[in-house]
Order: sequence, then structure tokens, then C-alpha cells
Amino acid sequence: MRTMLVTGGAGFIGANFVHLTRSRHPEDHIIVLDKLTYAGNRDSLAGAEVEFLEGDVCDAALVDAAVSRADAVIHFAAESHNDNSLRDPRPFVDTNVVGTFTILEAVRRHETRLHHISTDEVFGDLALDDPARFTETTPYQPSSPYSATKAGSDHLVRAWVRSFGVTATISNCSNNYGPYQHIEKFIPRQITNILDGRTPKLYGTGEQVRDWIHVDDHNAAVHLILEQGRIGETYNIGADNDHVDNKRVMELICELMDAPGYEHVADRPGHDQRYAMDSTKLRTELGWAPRYTDTDTGMRAGLEQTIAWYRDNEAWWRPAKEQVEAGYAERGQ
Ligand code: NAD
Ligand code: TYD
Repeated sequence: MRTMLVTGGAGFIGANFVHLTRSRHPEDHIIVLDKLTYAGNRDSLAGAEVEFLEGDVCDAALVDAAVSRADAVIHFAAESHNDNSLRDPRPFVDTNVVGTFTILEAVRRHETRLHHISTDEVFGDLALDDPARFTETTPYQPSSPYSATKAGSDHLVRAWVRSFGVTATISNCSNNYGPYQHIEKFIPRQITNILDGRTPKLYGTGEQVRDWIHVDDHNAAVHLILEQGRIGETYNIGADNDHVDNKRVMELICELMDAPGYEHVADRPGHDQRYAMDSTKLRTELGWAPRYTDTDTGMRAGLEQTIAWYRDNEAWWRPAKEQVEAGYAERGQ
């Protein structure tokens, strides 16, 4: 039996990771450490047997005690929304940078295996007409407080591997979608807008490209890296959807939900244009491949599953909807 410590396990990707791990490894003991910020939801773990610790990854004593009991730490906890980081960057510095430092010091003390979850946004963005993709050696060039603090956390992990021999791996993944994603994010916001009789909202022209991946494909890669990844290495994760722009995703959601249309709203300041991940290393070295693929956008089956989940789980998203939309309305979005 292994004990896994999952930080941020009440958030979107972390909760899906817990459910996937429970189904694949029912014998594992899972400790979830989560502060339950606005983005964390205890209900996302309903039905999954876990030991739940409500607390902050910056709390060194709490983190040390939890890490001392773990065989592996999977570090998802972060402030994760770009729009929020533009309004109030402070929690991003605290959780993403100081929180990761706190985790690193604990795994260093207890010689515990760490997998650090990061994002493609550390690489900055590409021009819309640039066919290049980010590789593991692309220089970091983050644009927002969110991506800058994630970049900082990656640098800390690499420094702790090199300087202190910490046994860590890193993965940088593209934009995820799927069940349990907070409705402030693009795809669940539009799905719940339509379910709620509101008009979906596209920022600016909608030409921006996110290399969308289903959350289960991301988490399957995390499992593989945890089990077979080489210590000290970084793996890019992406499902080759870098030909699909926001407008196309919006059209597909409207088509799948029989919605009459959408409206263009104020663009995000400093909006990153295009993200594209080269996941060759993960595919060739560890044999990973995404399961959610199709010949249209690569997202049809995944979006159908995601739409069905939000339709069936209104009680999960309803309490946050009014407030999230009021915040966006204030900013003309
Ligand atoms: P999320 O915002 O849905 O969840 C974050 C979770 O962390 C929440 O449960 C929150 O309560 C918890 N948390 C926040 N601050 C904390 C603190 N100080 N101490 C303990 N817990 C705290 O985020 P997500 O989308 O699930 O992202 C998880 C990780 O994956 C993040 O590290 C993010 O950078 C990374 N990532 C996300 C995406 C994406 O598309 N969502 C893509 C690539 C990488
Ligand atoms: P988001 O889900 O916030 O993720 P990220 O900032 O990590 O890319 O946004 C994804 C894309 O969708 C991004 O280009 C901004 C755009 N977007 C909209 O067009 N409308 C919306 O209501 C939101 C929230 C985002």
C-alpha cells in the first residue's frame, strides 16, 4: 500500500486525479491537503475515500507532518486563474511560489518522491501564425502573474533537484477541460451559461489557440510519469489540439447544446495568443497517448462527456454561478 499526498486535491485537476487513482489503485491511501479557497470544493471528492486535511501549503508544520507520512507527493495546489492574477497577484506569489518552496523543503527533509504539476503558460505565447510548438527546452517567458509564479515554482523544483538531490519530476500541461472545473474558466463558463439561459461570452475575436486536453488524459500522463518518469526530468503534456481556436471551441459547444449563438465581449489585457505543446518526449519515452481524440476538433467526445456532466451536476456549480457572472459583468466580460 502506498500513501499519496495530493495537494490541491479539491480543485479541478486534483479531484479528477483522486478519482482516477481510486479507480486504478483502490489499495492506496490518499491524503488530500487543500485550503478550500473559492476554487476548492469538498463535494468534488464525494464518493472517493480520502483523508482530508484542510490547510495551507505554506503552513510548514502542517506540510511537514503530512509529507512525513507520504511515499509520494503530487503537487497540484495553486492559484490558477489568469484573470484573477491580473486583479490581485498576491495569493499567486504566496501559494505558487512560497507554497512550492514549503513542499520542497519538506520532501527534502523526508526524502520523499515529488511530482510537480505545471503549465504550458510558463513558455509565454506564440504568434497566431507561428507553427512552432513548445518543447521541454523552450526558454521560459511567462506573461501574467499566474504564469510567472508557476515559472518560479518550476525553477525552484529544478534547483532543489540539482542542489539538494530532491527526487522530483515536473510536467507542463496545456489547458484542461472536463468535469469539476470551476465555472470561471472558459469551457464550463459557456456550458453553464447555456444551461442557465445566458448568452455565452467570447473574449475579443476568439482567434486565440489553447492546446485543449481532457483532464483524464492529463492525469493518465501524471500517473505514468510518477511510475516511470526519470528523476529530474520535465515532460510536456499536450493532445495536439493546437489547430483549434477559441471561436471553434465556442461553435462546437453551441452546436452540441443546440444554443442559438454567442456574443463577443471585452478582451483580456495582455491576452496570450497561441499555446502549442510538443509532447514527443512523453509519447516516445513513456508510451503515453491521449484517449480523447477525434478527427474533427479532437474535442467532440470530450466536450460531449463534459457537457453531460454539467447538465447532471447542477447542484455542484449552481451556488457559484451568480457571483462569477456578476464579477465578469463588472469588467464588461
Ligand atoms: P484549481 O484552481 O481548480 O484548484 C486549485 C486547488 O488548490 C483548489 O482546490 C484550492 O482550494 C487549492 N489551493 C489553492 N491555494 C492553496 C493553498 N495555499 N494551500 C492548499 N491548497 C490550496 O486549479 P486546477 O485547474 O485544478 O489546476 C491544478 C494545477 O494544475 C495547478 O498547479 C495549475 O497550475 C496546473 N495546470 C492547470 C491547467 C488547467 O487548464 N486548469 C493546465 C495546466 C496546468
Ligand atoms: P481560461 O479558461 O481562463 O484559461 P487560460 O487563461 O489558462 O487560457 O481561458 C481560455 C481561453 O478562453 C483564453 O484564451 C481566454 C478565453 N475566454 C473567453 O473567450 N471567454 C471567457 O468567458 C473566458 C473565461 C475565457
